[in-house]
Amino acid sequence: SKQWTKVIDCAAVPSADVVAVEAAGRELAIYGVDGEVYATDNICTHGHARLCDGFLEGHEIECPLHQGRFDIRNGKALCEPLATDIRTYPIKIEDGSVYVEI
Ligand code: FES
Repeated sequence: SKQWTKVIDCAAVPSADVVAVEAAGRELAIYGVDGEVYATDNICTHGHARLCDGFLEGHEIECPLHQGRFDIRNGKALCEPLATDIRTYPIKIEDGSVYVEI
């Protein structure tokens, strides 16, 4: 069953950038864009690369290994060589912290 898990302080969420966190035994990527927070798996669906080492432009994260791009809002794989979307997680903000439903 799913649970809300505290992953990071709101103050530590980067602006127009991405940071990695660990939660419930998973590696997640946490993104801050225009005051909103998004969460995806951190490991690319194509190979063993970390999206937190990639390049965030708007709502698109570019994988550092083969430049595949995902939409961080829905996890959609946007271009080759990606064949599989990335998992996204619901977010809630409470008492100055970011919670992710895992
Ligand atoms: Fe991410 Fe290949 S490992 S695009």
